[in-house]
Amino acid sequence: MQTIGSLQFWLTYHCVVSVFRVEGGAPLTGAVAVPGAKNSVLKLMAATLLAPGTSELMNVPDIEDVAIMSELLRRLGCEVNHVGSTITITVPHRPDHRADYDLVRRMRASICVLGPLLARCGAADVAVPGGDNIGSRGLDMHVDALRKMGAHVKNEHGYLLAESEGLAGAQVFLDFPSVGATETILMAAVTATGESIIENAAREPEIIDICMMLVGMGADISGIGSSTLIITGVNSLKPVSHRVVSDRIVAGTWAIAAVMTQGDLTISGVPPQYLALPLEKLQTAGALVESGGDTIRVRMNERAQCVDIVTLPYPGFPTDLQPQFIALNAIGQGAALVTENLFEARFRFVQELARLGADVRTDGHHALIRGREALSGAPVEATDIRAGAGLVLAGLVAQGSTTVYGVSHIDRGYAEFVETLQGLGAKIERVEA
Ligand code: UD1
Repeated sequence: MQTIGSLQFWLTYHCVVSVFRVEGGAPLTGAVAVPGAKNSVLKLMAATLLAPGTSELMNVPDIEDVAIMSELLRRLGCEVNHVGSTITITVPHRPDHRADYDLVRRMRASICVLGPLLARCGAADVAVPGGDNIGSRGLDMHVDALRKMGAHVKNEHGYLLAESEGLAGAQVFLDFPSVGATETILMAAVTATGESIIENAAREPEIIDICMMLVGMGADISGIGSSTLIITGVNSLKPVSHRVVSDRIVAGTWAIAAVMTQGDLTISGVPPQYLALPLEKLQTAGALVESGGDTIRVRMNERAQCVDIVTLPYPGFPTDLQPQFIALNAIGQGAALVTENLFEARFRFVQELARLGADVRTDGHHALIRGREALSGAPVEATDIRAGAGLVLAGLVAQGSTTVYGVSHIDRGYAEFVETLQGLGAKIERVEA
């Protein structure tokens, strides 16, 4: 026992890990193209399970979560091939129906195979993801909806065990417009018998994306983009070729970086309306924002004003841009109140930001940030993807050198993060520590 303990200690403290070393002070300038959305592609990959045969997804980001989802699909019996930013997924006639804990614990979004496996196989055994670094996230709405559609679902030995002898359409009122629950119900309902109605459905661009892909596979969905989705079940679906919607959170991260570093960035490949509220907030902070087609130009030539934000489901302010906005406020003029309504533990990251000298107080759902004229570089630890991005942005404007640990979180969601920033003039490198 002691030997195993010693070995674990040795591995923890002697394994080589990547860190990002950031030197503050360089303004970001130039052009950047936005890849496909992490929060869409994972669900689209799961949705391919609904049809035997080969589906193709284009504009796929090169991120760690896509690699994990590919591994999960392979274990379910699929063949997954990556060529550049396109992946092909060949789904067998009888996929396996078990998603093991070793993968689910690495990526909570693995739960998105629950709906399609139940629909295709009549059974799904999916490890319960548990809490993660941004708070415990429930699955009650997923489970309640599947039960309403006739499935038997139990939680045993750390797994959700779902079974059904044929799902039936149902009317589901969501307590909250949950992205994940809306997706689970959609994927379960497309081949259920009869009509399903999701009231208070999520309306994120990623939900529109999965609806469009399912329609391309032969599904019958109306109300797409609204909070009432009506799904009429069809007998079967066919494989599809689909382009993943671009990542509005990545685009928003670069826009905030332009403002913080007092730079000038042209961000292409994302419809500006997907970022309407964050861009308006950046204008309130003093930025010049121009948009047209699928391009956004963000310029800043003075210190930002602090801006209040309140996170809410789309089209409200996205929680996935909240840490980056706290970083912006940390070096702004004045003070701002940030209200987090989705993930209670997201404020954990402010303790790390405080190591750079930020003045942030949190109380429950609120963070009060008093802007500082300057931050000072320090070693910090990323606790989740967006917190990691927020810390790097803070490092880009801090005086001196900032070392960001825990960058595997950032790699999960941002493709070529360091290379992209280097191309825009940032002084950042990945080093082995
Ligand atoms: C997705 C995104 C995440 C984003 C979030 C909100 C992915 C992989 N992740 O997460 O980046 O921050 O949407 O835009 O797409 N809830 C319950 N019970 C449920 C389901 C949800 O209580 O059955 C609660 C959660 O605890 C949370 C809130 O609802 O407080 C929002 O969750 P949800 O919209 O489902 O987010 P995710 O799909 O997990």
